[in-house]
Amino acid sequence: MAMSARAIVLAAGKGTRMKSARPKVLHELCGRPMLWWGLEALSRAGVDGITVVTNPQLEAQFGQNPMLADFDAQTVVQPEQAGTGDAVRIALAAMPPREGAVLVTYGDMPLIDESLLRGVTAALAKRPGRLLALVTARMPLPSTFGRVVRDGKRVARIVEARDCSDDELELDEMNAGVYAYDERALREVVPRIGNANVQGEYYLTDTIALLAAEGRVVPVIARDHRIVLGINDRVELAHARTILNARLCEQHMRDGVTIVDPATTYLEAGVRIGADTIVLPGTSIGRNSVIGRGCTVGPHTRLEAATIGDGVRILESVVVDSSVGPGTTIGPFAHLRGGSRLGERVRIGNFVETKNAELADDTKANHLAYIGDAAVGARSNIGAGTITANFDGLRKNRTEIGADVKIGTNTSLVAPVTVGDGAVTGAGTVVIRDVAAGERVVGNPARPIAEKPAPA
Ligand code: UD1
Ligand code: CA
Repeated sequence: MAMSARAIVLAAGKGTRMKSARPKVLHELCGRPMLWWGLEALSRAGVDGITVVTNPQLEAQFGQNPMLADFDAQTVVQPEQAGTGDAVRIALAAMPPREGAVLVTYGDMPLIDESLLRGVTAALAKRPGRLLALVTARMPLPSTFGRVVRDGKRVARIVEARDCSDDELELDEMNAGVYAYDERALREVVPRIGNANVQGEYYLTDTIALLAAEGRVVPVIARDHRIVLGINDRVELAHARTILNARLCEQHMRDGVTIVDPATTYLEAGVRIGADTIVLPGTSIGRNSVIGRGCTVGPHTRLEAATIGDGVRILESVVVDSSVGPGTTIGPFAHLRGGSRLGERVRIGNFVETKNAELADDTKANHLAYIGDAAVGARSNIGAGTITANFDGLRKNRTEIGADVKIGTNTSLVAPVTVGDGAVTGAGTVVIRDVAAGERVVGNPARPIAEKPAPA
């Protein structure tokens, strides 16, 4: 549902407390940059366009980040970080004036959700004459948040923690940093913000005292202060990640996925998991992986950019940039990567690595093998210790194995090489030339096994 509000997101701060070469709002949380989460919440709330205030370093990286490019957002650079009030002034100058509501949020608040944004916008619109609705939250002390100073029931002003008197520091109602302004009032008041404070910055929070009058500024108290936590250092980053991860786990569980231990299951945004799949402890699933129904994944498994069919079992294994067909079993201790494509009912056992390999339906590689740059036909069996020697020192070469082939233990397939349908290699064979369909070879280099002499 569209709402008529536009949004400003402030993200130009230096983020000094992160002690990082990377802009604060680009630090990662559950597979997405911090800033993505706030933009996602605004998009879900249906805002009508977003203006993101960046600094020159963030500006250079914003456009290159495919995850951020998807939003209906324009950026505007704040050349010097002169405060949140200055940042809003710069955003407004880049937005053609319009009647209605402007939401202002901070890019370091990845936990805010769409219902909070809708709630504060609705509070502004509820009665004519309201100029600002702002989210406040009761929080444990001590806190670095700005304090909400009330005059009776009315919100009178916000005092930054650094500018607080001892008495004000005892107040436990905090400024969350989520505001819905009447745009005209915001444009009128922003030029009147001064910088006579401890930090010498233009504080957006000074607009509260400038607008405050009976019925003009209304607080919206957040039901849970954790959704308005701001991230200023890496301790808070980890804390927020735990909360976001718990939320993702909860969503999947409510959609029918069993997660045995959410505390040790790490999910990224954008992952899809089918109903009745069981995720065992110590498992991480990311990079838009898609998992079918009725699978067992884990324990101690990592899936990245993996596409997994229904009824697959993946135990203590790693699957990256690969797809797995229905009914296949993987692991324990297998590694599928680099565009591996497994068919249905395949069996991949311990210490098997596949890379850029196609394994057709009902193939097996149960122990100790490397299958790289290869295709294996249906029902073929790859014996323990089999290696596709795909690299000749200059380039990668392909191995083609037909259907119903039996590759004996410790076979080396020196690529490029083709093994025809129904062929058999004996234990320890070194295959350096193509093997014809139905042929049986053994030795180093591989030679056809002589036909058994006819019985006398
Ligand atoms: C701010 C609020 C405080 C509130 C807290 C909630 C102000 C003055 N204070 O404090 O009342 O309790 O958030 O988390 O608003 N930014 C710019 N340009 C600047 C300065 C900051 O874009 O010149 C951005 C930052 O990138 C950040 C956000 O504004 O995303 C807030 O700035 P920050 O320095 O983190 O403010 P706080 O001290 O946390
Ligand atoms: Ca902050």
